[in-house]
Amino acid sequence: MKDYDPALSFDEEHAAAEDATVRGDEAATVAFLEGLARGGPALELAIGSGRIALPLAARGIHVDGIDFSEAMVARLRAKPGGGALSVTMGDFADVGVPGRYRLVYLVFNTLFNLLTQDDQVRCFGNVAARLDEEGVFVVEGFVPSWLHRLRDGEYVSAESVETGSVTLGVGRHDPVAQRLEESHVRLSPGGIRLAPIVCRYAWPSELDLMARMAGLRLKERWGGWEREPFTADSRNCVSVYGR
Ligand SMILES: C[S@@+](CC[C@H](N)C(=O)[O-])C[C@H]1O[C@@H](n2cnc3c(N)ncnc32)[C@H](O)[C@@H]1O
Repeated sequence: MKDYDPALSFDEEHAAAEDATVRGDEAATVAFLEGLARGGPALELAIGSGRIALPLAARGIHVDGIDFSEAMVARLRAKPGGGALSVTMGDFADVGVPGRYRLVYLVFNTLFNLLTQDDQVRCFGNVAARLDEEGVFVVEGFVPSWLHRLRDGEYVSAESVETGSVTLGVGRHDPVAQRLEESHVRLSPGGIRLAPIVCRYAWPSELDLMARMAGLRLKERWGGWEREPFTADSRNCVSVYGR
């Protein structure tokens, strides 16, 4: 996607749509993370508008965050409890915060928003330096098998069909670069709205290798936040790394 800038995907206009996204597995995600935090403190990389951080903090876990989008963090700040969290503005690959954490987590495929393998490896290394002795790093990302089953590496799907609007998901897969270029295209009487996003995905085995390079090892792997078994059919992958 020529001239793509990741910041484009999280500007004011797109933050509103992103903030409205509820996946339905929030309660299970928070329960899973609360158990691993063992009292905290916790750090969310790419905290966004607090979909997970706020309910986790409401359970009594101290949660800090990192994000580069002023628009997303403004939405977090506007929510109950959102003013109390410490959020560092910057690239989460730098993990530019002091201190040590019992839990660092990165959910919703967001590791893949780092568009090079180098940046993803750097992120693992910086996370390892911020974990305390017992600390764990939890990463949630999609399993890319479905991309490799696409005809001609492309798709158009109907994400929503309403009387007043239609939203299409339009994607193109580059298996060599491990990249997915997508746009969510909303057609309505008000006009056309595009929401582009590019991912550099990694297979679970590649994540494990990045962790090993950072001195971490895989402790648990699940197919979802309810601790569903991870199988050949899993579309989601929740990995827990520690020393
Ligand atoms: C899909 S949202 C997820 C937000 C939150 N983690 C959640 O699960 O609801 C992705 C977030 O990642 C942030 N983000 C993407 N790339 C980033 C980067 N390199 N550094 C910091 N934040 C980044 C965006 O600003 C956005 O808030």
